[in-house]
Amino acid sequence: MVPEISQLPRLSDQLEEAKRKAAYRAIDENIDFENHKIIGIGSGSTVVYVAERLGQYLKDEKYASKVSQFICIPTGFQSKKLILDNGLQLSNMELYSQLDIAFDGADEVDYNLQLIKGGGGCLFQEKLVSSNAKKFIIVADYRKKSPKYLGTNWVQGVPIEVVPSAYVSVCKDLENKLGAKKAVLRECKGGKAGPVVTDNNNFIIDADFGTIEDPKQLHKDIKLLVGVIETGLFIDNAAKVYFGNEDGSVELV
Ligand code: 5RP
Repeated sequence: MVPEISQLPRLSDQLEEAKRKAAYRAIDENIDFENHKIIGIGSGSTVVYVAERLGQYLKDEKYASKVSQFICIPTGFQSKKLILDNGLQLSNMELYSQLDIAFDGADEVDYNLQLIKGGGGCLFQEKLVSSNAKKFIIVADYRKKSPKYLGTNWVQGVPIEVVPSAYVSVCKDLENKLGAKKAVLRECKGGKAGPVVTDNNNFIIDADFGTIEDPKQLHKDIKLLVGVIETGLFIDNAAKVYFGNEDGSVELV
């Protein structure tokens, strides 16, 4: 039996609890067991619970025959593993380029449901999957909701995936032409040397623009720079956002 959200055992960590509740509710309210077939699974720590919830449905005899036919499309190495670890069917965008629905996390969400994503470096595949899904659902904890504009909570800057040989020129253009306060190449943490390399063998630049009042225009301007593959500004593609709150409630925006 799939457990009721209200009957879940409490997780000791309030943040994990918020992520789990948001993800479980997003699945419960948005999966159409009769009509959905191709499902996008995003990246990050909140999406872990999206895959976990689908895995619970898979083990429930009432839903198992439907869920075992779901085809899950990952947005990177981590989500590939999540799909497999939860016993779900893994495929790819080459075989299934039209998705019924996709679920993903976010680094920041503004008042207009515009997003910053790419904190985990998977932004290109996340955008490819989400922009080819009929419905894109975001799951996030309470820290991700910005009071109004992007760049308020997520101060690390806009993640931008670039061709490796272009990172110096793109950093300069971001600062000199587009007004970034600072644009830096993302480096590996934890004693590993060198730049972060994406699943597509590219680099990531984090560009600090302060608060972003017009993310649509900024996204367009960045995309025009030679060497830019994709930006972490996700414009007009999130249908709904589920925020897990500190008090254990879930807010749907
Ligand atoms: C990875 C992403 C993630 O979805 C984003 O960083 C949110 O992650 P988390 O759920 O761990 O807060 O965009 O590129």
